[in-house]
Amino acid sequence: MASSTTYSTQIAADILGTIAASTEAVVQQRPGAREHVLALAYKLVSTLETPSETVQRMGWTEPARFAATQMAIDLKIFEKLEEAHNAPVSLVDLVVSTGGDAALIARTMKHLSATNIISEIGVDEYASTPISTALTIPKFRDGISYLYNVAGPSLHSIPAYLKKTGYENPGNIADGPFQFAHKTQNPFFIWLAERPEYAEQFNNYMSGYRQGKLSWCDEGFYPVAERIGQRLNSEPPLLVDVGGGLGHDLLELRTKHPELSGRLILQDQADVIKQVGNPEKGIELIVHDFFTPQPVKGAKAYYLHSVLHDWDDARCLKILNNIIPAMSPGYSKLLVNENVVPDVGAAWPITSMDWLMMALGAVKERTEKQWRGLLQQAGLEVTGIWTYEQGTESLIEAEVAI
Ligand SMILES: C[S@@+](CC[C@H](N)C(=O)[O-])C[C@H]1O[C@@H](n2cnc3c(N)ncnc32)[C@H](O)[C@@H]1O
Repeated sequence: MASSTTYSTQIAADILGTIAASTEAVVQQRPGAREHVLALAYKLVSTLETPSETVQRMGWTEPARFAATQMAIDLKIFEKLEEAHNAPVSLVDLVVSTGGDAALIARTMKHLSATNIISEIGVDEYASTPISTALTIPKFRDGISYLYNVAGPSLHSIPAYLKKTGYENPGNIADGPFQFAHKTQNPFFIWLAERPEYAEQFNNYMSGYRQGKLSWCDEGFYPVAERIGQRLNSEPPLLVDVGGGLGHDLLELRTKHPELSGRLILQDQADVIKQVGNPEKGIELIVHDFFTPQPVKGAKAYYLHSVLHDWDDARCLKILNNIIPAMSPGYSKLLVNENVVPDVGAAWPITSMDWLMMALGAVKERTEKQWRGLLQQAGLEVTGIWTYEQGTESLIEAEVAI
């Protein structure tokens, strides 16, 4: 057997040893332990897999899993499993509830079981898992649908698009892989606004994509109370979430820092604000186009989360130049919550987000040097960068340069 081994047993053994040595840290939920072991587990898979298994996983296993999951969402299969409260659901019941062909539903359930989306209890009997349960909640369910229908085709088309453009780095938000894939001349957000079903999915997805990771306002990340809790007077708003989506960051801030007083303001485009409906207590809604002057003056903080990475430098400068006049020099802070691409050893959540940005807007994730350069060009001085762990977003704090 040893002579046919294609993987490095030494590397595999080393990874397994490191994983075993991390058991205590994972059980204790020490900061960064889960992410560390997850990265090792992926590395272990890459080490153990034969080249042909890697091709299979990339080429059929994951695409089939993605397609079967989307189909199960369309047929509300995960809801049906959920209704059974962990009791097994038979194939017959699923055929009746979905109206699908029995043979088709059976092969779908088999692949979803084999890839751990659902659990196979016995012959033609299935039950929910934590993943399938999550996929009944809009912020996770819509993540699959948005990525399958909108981002997926665009990512898939990148090689053909680049072949056509002679491998230039994409840089035109109105003529990139997204337009090539979706046969449009509209930039991503304009295209999205014209398709309410996808826009709703995107907004729900944005509420969920960072769930479960330490956030900027958690203890041990950005010292919120110390940096923005010290306020000169109680009149100006505490924080304006510019392009804040459905407001999940404000809710988190309010929940995790009930000691902070002050108005919290959510700004986004009209359709997004409409989707928010009735805001949670203490959160004000404003329809605002961030390419126009910021109407809320003198807030302690203006917060931009996953906003600037959607735009090229010229448009970022326009966004920033519309906020800066509203900032009180020496008092207001600009908080940019974004990935900072490390010079060495960038983790896959960041490198794949960089490719996603290429696919959607012909834009990119930025390095620390690029962030500092951009903010300085706008007339801002970076007063700190807080990073919790490789592969998570950083919090960049800046003030108006005096
Ligand atoms: C990637 S999402 C980030 C949402 C939220 N900050 C988060 O981190 O989940 C970008 C947001 O920018 C908003 N947006 C795009 N163009 C805008 C504009 N011109 N004015 C205001 N918001 C805009 C989108 O509607 C969307 O909610």
